[in-house]
Amino acid sequence: SAAPPATIVIFGAAGDLTKRLLIPSLYNLSESHLLGEDFAVLGVDIADTSTEAWRDGLGETLRSFTGDADAEFHPDRIDAEAWDRLAGCLSYMKGDVTDPACFEALRDQLGDRSAIFYLAVGAHFFAPIVDGLGKAGLLEETEGAFRRLVIEKPFGHDLASAQALNARILKVAREEQVFRIDHFMGKEPVQSLLAMRFANRLFEPIWRAEHVERVEITAAETIGVGSRGRFYEPTGALRDMVPNHMMQLLCMAAMDAPSSLDADAIRGEKTRLLAAVAPLGPDDVVFGQYEAGEIEGNAVPGYREEADVAPDSRTETFVAARFRIHNWRWAGTPFLIRTGKCLAARRTEIVVHLKPAPFRLFPDMEAPAGSSDRITLSVDPGHGIEIAFDVKRPGPDMELAKAATEFSFDEAFAHNPNVGYEALLYDCLTGDATLFQRADTIEAAWRIVDPVLDHAKNAAPLPYDAGSEGPEAAADWGWTPLGKTHDE
Ligand code: BG6
Repeated sequence: SAAPPATIVIFGAAGDLTKRLLIPSLYNLSESHLLGEDFAVLGVDIADTSTEAWRDGLGETLRSFTGDADAEFHPDRIDAEAWDRLAGCLSYMKGDVTDPACFEALRDQLGDRSAIFYLAVGAHFFAPIVDGLGKAGLLEETEGAFRRLVIEKPFGHDLASAQALNARILKVAREEQVFRIDHFMGKEPVQSLLAMRFANRLFEPIWRAEHVERVEITAAETIGVGSRGRFYEPTGALRDMVPNHMMQLLCMAAMDAPSSLDADAIRGEKTRLLAAVAPLGPDDVVFGQYEAGEIEGNAVPGYREEADVAPDSRTETFVAARFRIHNWRWAGTPFLIRTGKCLAARRTEIVVHLKPAPFRLFPDMEAPAGSSDRITLSVDPGHGIEIAFDVKRPGPDMELAKAATEFSFDEAFAHNPNVGYEALLYDCLTGDATLFQRADTIEAAWRIVDPVLDHAKNAAPLPYDAGSEGPEAAADWGWTPLGKTHDE
C-alpha cells in the first residue's frame, strides 16, 4: 500500500547517486503507486539551478538510462504518467550544508511535515549535516510527524571513526530514526536468503559446521576503478566492500534464526553473529592490485595508470579474507570471502560446500568432478539457487556422476523493474528498519577488519592481471573459478 505522506530531503541532489539510483527508484515506486498522495522530494545542493532545470535533467537521465543487465532499467519502459506524477513532487533548493541558514530555510519549508533526510553526499559532509539538522531542531518528531535520517556508506573509515560518527548521530537522533544504508540489503537475492534458510527444513538442519566444510562468499567485478580514483585511492577494496557489503552477505548466510521478523530481532542476530567472528590477522588476508590486462576482449589499464591514482599506489583492488566464527554452529568451518575489481567475471554469490558422506561406500566417491556437494545462491548477475550432488550414472555399473539442479527466480517469477533502492526507500517511508544497519552491527563489522585495515599499504598488495582470478597467493584457498561456469 502507498507510503504515508512525507518529504524526502535529498542532500546531494545534483550528484550521481540521486540521478542514477534514487530518482529511478522513486520513479519505479511511483509507477507501482507506492508513493502516497502528499509525497514530496526536496533536492538540496550547492549548485545554482532551478526546480525546472533540476527536474528536466533528472527526466533526461531517466530517459537516457541505457538499462544494462545490472540496472534493469529500460528507457522504453518509461511511463509518462508515472514520471509526471513524480516530477510534480520534485522541487529544488540551493543550500550550503556548512551554513546554518540552509537548515533554517529547510525548517521553514518543511513546517510540521514528516521528513526523511537522505545524505547522498560525500562522507565528509555527514557530520556537518547531522550537526546542522540537530541544531535546527529538524530531527525532533511530533505526534503526527516523523523525522528520519538516511546515511549512505562509507560509514566511517575504521572502528574509531564509525563509533565517533554513531555517537554524533545519536546525540541528535534516536536509533529508531537512523537508517544506515547498505545497498546489498536492497538486493532481492540477499533478502531471499532469509526465506530460503528459515522457511524450509531442507537447508537449515545441515547449515552448520558438522556438515559444511567451507563457505565461499564472492563479489567479483569486471569493471576497474574508472573515474572513481579520488575516492578509491584512500579507500581500497577492504574498506569499500568488506565491513559493509561482504559482512551483510556473511550475516545473512551464517546468522541464527531470528525469533520473529521484527527489525530488531533480525538485526540482533546479525550483531550476535559478528560478535562471534574473530578479528582478522595478517595471515587471514591476501591483498591484490590489478595490472594491465584484458577483459572480455578489451585491453584495460593497470590500476596505477588510472586517473587520480598515484603511480606507486599501494591501494588494494582485491581482497580475500578467511573468517573464523567462534560459536557452536560454525567453529571449524572457514568463511572465505573475496572481492575485487577487474576480475575474470562479474559474479556475486555464496557457495556452501558440504562435507563428504561420512564413509566411503562407493569406490569413486571423490572422483566426480573432484568437488564436494554444494549449494549456491547467486546474487548477481541473475538470482538463483543451485544444488550440486552425486547421483548414480544410469547403466550396469554402480558409478557416480555429479548432478546439478538450478532454480532461477527470474524465470519463475515476473517482477517489476528494480534499480535496487526501491525497497530501501519504501521501507524508510514506512519506518521498517529491517534492511538497515544498526549502530552496533556496523561497529561489530569494523572491529573484525580493524587490525588489518592498513596492512596492504604497509606490505604492498600482490599484482594480478586484469581479467584474471586475482593474485595467485589466494588461488589455493579452493575457490570456485570465476572464469568458468559451475559445470565445467
Ligand atoms: C559500492 C562500491 O558500494 O558497491 C563499489 O563502492 C562497488 O566500488 C559496488 O562497485 C558494487 O555494487 P554492485 O551492486 O554493483 O555489486
